[in-house]
Amino acid sequence: MNFDELWNSLLPIGRDDSTGGYRRFSWTAEDEQCRAWFTHSAAQRNLRTHCDRNSNLWAWWDSPEPPADTAAVVTGSHLDSVPDGGAFDGPLGIVSAFAAIDLLRERGFAPARPVAVAAFCEEEGARFGVACLGSRLLTGAITPDAARARRDVDGISLAEAMAAAGHDPDGIGPDEDLLASIGAYLELHIEQGRALADLDCAIGIAEGIWPHGRWRLDFTGQADHAGTAALAGRHDPMLPYAAAVLAARQAAAANGTLATFGKVIAEPGGANAVCSTVTAWLDARGPQETALRATVGEVLAAAEQAAARHGVTVAVRPESITPPVTFDLGLRERVTAALSARGITAPVLPTGAGHDAGVLSAWRPAAMLFVRNPSGVSHAPAEHADAADCVAGVEALAVVLAELAGQ
Ligand code: GLV
Ligand code: MN
Ligand code: MN
Repeated sequence: MNFDELWNSLLPIGRDDSTGGYRRFSWTAEDEQCRAWFTHSAAQRNLRTHCDRNSNLWAWWDSPEPPADTAAVVTGSHLDSVPDGGAFDGPLGIVSAFAAIDLLRERGFAPARPVAVAAFCEEEGARFGVACLGSRLLTGAITPDAARARRDVDGISLAEAMAAAGHDPDGIGPDEDLLASIGAYLELHIEQGRALADLDCAIGIAEGIWPHGRWRLDFTGQADHAGTAALAGRHDPMLPYAAAVLAARQAAAANGTLATFGKVIAEPGGANAVCSTVTAWLDARGPQETALRATVGEVLAAAEQAAARHGVTVAVRPESITPPVTFDLGLRERVTAALSARGITAPVLPTGAGHDAGVLSAWRPAAMLFVRNPSGVSHAPAEHADAADCVAGVEALAVVLAELAGQ
């Protein structure tokens, strides 16, 4: 196993030199390079690769004598990024998966059931707005028609993007056979917070994922001249948008949740004009669904009231809703016991970040390992894990794979 070599071979792909962040969006040239990297890394290890009907990539370490119950142990994550994302969110799980297989082979381990590495596509939903799109399609959590109809900011539909990248958009949808072949899914991920740093532990185990979602708000007003349109006569969509941003902060604080506007598009975007439309995305997450619902309700009410005050209309569309997840307790206990038998203390942590493991957990037993992130920063170039912790992550993953795929 050479974690560094594998890690460094992926590192340049999709990196923006001016920001140091990653722009790896689904079905783009950078995505294609990431896919080629995955296929090459799998081939170097004599793993059998295949791309499923939903553009998810799989690399199979087949077991020579599979038992009657041949359900596989699948590990992996995603290669796509948020705009200017960090290097670790997603790729760490995939590089660690290949490295863990190397380690198990070096130790002479022969799996009694198949082991696979999966790279789920469009996990961040950065291009088409729906988080964990690849695993949602695989499981049927989103319909093929709803997915195909999604458009990116340039108006390109998901169907067009897939076709342009050589994938068949007509074939997307649930894949019951593939899903049934997964006995357990285990995702290693950089921690997106600093609980492990505070606890002085390199490795953690996920307890569950907060319910969360994204809502698109379209404010429509009236474009006008910034230097001549009287304040009283304006229909400025920027004002209800601003009210919604402030309400999000207030509602989140009041309900013990998180609410964020991280993306906004003002059209036509002249510095010397009142704009005609503002499109903004609310991301909201909370420990309980009631608190999340209250937060979103308060933000949308504030947006609607401010829109009415300013003669602006607002249309709200939920884009990506993810219910709460509690990971399979039995699997979690097996993971904890396997790690603890090797002297690895791994605290159990909740998270507000979404993952394919969360989507899959509604169908198949799933678990997650977290690797310490000293600053806690994620979805940004400053995201970081120390080399020693990455190696500890590979060791932990290998231990758990051996436990689940062994006799
Ligand atoms: C994915 O990383 C998310 O939590 O949005
Ligand atoms: Mn992410
Ligand atoms: Mn991720």
